[in-house]
Amino acid sequence: MSRLPIILDTDPGIDDAVALAAALFSPALDLQLITTVAGNVSVEKTTRNALQLLHFWQQDVPLAQGAATPLVRPLRDAACVHGESGMEGYNFVAHDRLAPDIPAFQAIYNCLLASETPVTLVTIGPLTNIALLLTHYPDCVTRIKRLVMMGGSAGRGNFTPNAEFNIAIDPEAAARVFQSGLEIIMCGLDVTNKAMLTPEYLAALPTLNRTGAMLHALFSHYRSGSLSTGLRMHDLCAIAWLVKPEMFTLKPCFVAVETQGEYTSGATVVDLEGRLNQPANAQVALEIDVPAFQQWVAQTLALAP
Ligand code: RIB
Ligand code: CA
Repeated sequence: MSRLPIILDTDPGIDDAVALAAALFSPALDLQLITTVAGNVSVEKTTRNALQLLHFWQQDVPLAQGAATPLVRPLRDAACVHGESGMEGYNFVAHDRLAPDIPAFQAIYNCLLASETPVTLVTIGPLTNIALLLTHYPDCVTRIKRLVMMGGSAGRGNFTPNAEFNIAIDPEAAARVFQSGLEIIMCGLDVTNKAMLTPEYLAALPTLNRTGAMLHALFSHYRSGSLSTGLRMHDLCAIAWLVKPEMFTLKPCFVAVETQGEYTSGATVVDLEGRLNQPANAQVALEIDVPAFQQWVAQTLALAP
């Protein structure tokens, strides 16, 4: 089976950590590069967290640090959800790994140039790095197979009433991405809010393997649900779609990102009924087969060390 080459842009982030585990240990995927971005916490912290995870799993995937701030707005973070460190709850061992001195958008472009086939971009944080890539290297679009994102919502938000966090932090970047012409798979809150790990599965994690024990320690500090009611695996949905797209129901839609609204900036305006007479620029995930997702998660995390 040929493995799908992917680049993962991430802001770890506790649910990002689960997505990274799935990206590393899914046999169908070939994780060629990890890039970090400011989002859940500062880019220094998201980079430190990503390096800690690579060390934990003894993996040597290339990594590059990305944007420290959104394109034009000040950074607002989600430390209230993930803890001040961005991955509160587990004492990772010390290591001497460092991110190389190259910006993420440059590392992504270099990776695209080096690949013999188009590469899939997977974004599970704000889209700042991707907007910078598109601005600095417009020709990159011919080397990108598609962009699969955790982001947005056809309905309500989770950071503001109308905006999902990854879009809300950098609406200008998200607007640039949705206007790019890239094939986009949008896994938004419509499916990620349903992508829950059950209390029963969570309770069994500590004895699954080292990864389960580490993730369970992090989950005790993760505020998108709880250990007793279940935890929402937002970012994992982007990886799940790559590996088992049949678990999702998509609809081609025109999606615009609001950047001017005093109360609504960061909202993804998903034109489900085609009222704006604009061509679809994204495939929006509206439904997820939750039992199948939960079975896939269990199978995938069991492959981790
Ligand atoms: O809205 C959920 C998204 O915001 C996830 O990517 C989570 O990690 C946070 O960044
Ligand atoms: Ca994230």
